Amino acid sequence: EKTPSLKEVYKDYFPIGAAINKQIIQNKDSALVQYHASSVTADNDMKYDRTVNGKGEYTFENGDQIVAFAQANNMLVRGHTLAWYHQTRDSFYQDSLGNDLSKPALLKKMQKHIHSVLNHYKGQVYCWDVVNEAISDYDDKFYRDDIKYFEIAGADYIEVAFRYAYEADSTIKLFYNDYDLINPQKREKTYQMLKELLDRGTPIHGVGMQGHYVIEDSVAKLLPLAIDRFASLGLEVQITELDVSVYPYYHNMDRSTLPKEIKPYTPEVAEALAKQYHDIFTILREKKDKITNVTFWGIADNRTWLSHYVVKGRTDYPLLFDQDLLPKKAFYKVTDFK
Ligand code: G3I
Repeated sequence: EKTPSLKEVYKDYFPIGAAINKQIIQNKDSALVQYHASSVTADNDMKYDRTVNGKGEYTFENGDQIVAFAQANNMLVRGHTLAWYHQTRDSFYQDSLGNDLSKPALLKKMQKHIHSVLNHYKGQVYCWDVVNEAISDYDDKFYRDDIKYFEIAGADYIEVAFRYAYEADSTIKLFYNDYDLINPQKREKTYQMLKELLDRGTPIHGVGMQGHYVIEDSVAKLLPLAIDRFASLGLEVQITELDVSVYPYYHNMDRSTLPKEIKPYTPEVAEALAKQYHDIFTILREKKDKITNVTFWGIADNRTWLSHYVVKGRTDYPLLFDQDLLPKKAFYKVTDFK
């Protein structure tokens, strides 16, 4: 029997997306993306350090390959990302002598970057994560304030980033994107920031709830609250980077303290993962009127960032397809609900 296609199963709910890269496009994984996804996001190729080289020249080739793949397969492209403290070269914030830019100079440079990228991808990318991860993970702090954007420009960089994006292309949807937004403290800070931005007339159309969950996250309780809260601002909600780690919570943790031991993928682990995915998609289906896209951060466990980034070399199993690109128990929990 044929494996059900995620995008087909969910066609009356929301488009299903996958984050992709060159390896995925050039290997067998691409067939999986073609069969299951109706939108793609570049997992790295549209970020600052991939679109601008060390000499300050624009290098759109990798991102263009993502767009070409999407167009050849009739898929939408989500843009990721324009203003993020990570994967932005230090020289971005500096003058030619290596001194920090003034606030006006930094904002001007940001404007140039946002305009360059949006002009290049005009008509090819339907929405963008304009600002990524600006809110602090710590309860005693509001913004992430230990980053260059904030140190130089304060919170203003967030609002102006959206304004610059709108100047360059008023036809696309502009998103604020962050992780751990089901966490009530972080959710409320994000809500407050978005409300204030909207009150000031900032062009912002949606919230990307990344959705890097772990098996223990209380999604059944917290996910619907977060979706409703953000939707109450009149914003679209998208799940932009969905995966479920089988290891303990890792956001805002000192990575060196995380357990390094590799968990084997036992039937119990497969079952727990399937249960979490079942809960997540039950909620997403219930909230379908508020949700305009659900994107997985990758397609199969063979190339997940979680196996090489959070704790290097610690194999994780966060997606619906395994190392051999075969559907897991979680996949059937997500597709078999009718
Ligand atoms: O491509 C180079 C390779 O040439 C080099 O040899 C190797 C050595 O470190 O690095 C490779 O680049 C790595 C890249 O992933 C591609 O694998 C970078 O070091 C590594 O930092 C980068 O990690 C990415 C991470 O963002 C960086 O912040 C992950 O792939 C990417 O999945 C992840 O995505 C983020 C979202 O953008 C925002 N939300 C969280 C999410 C997960 O962290």
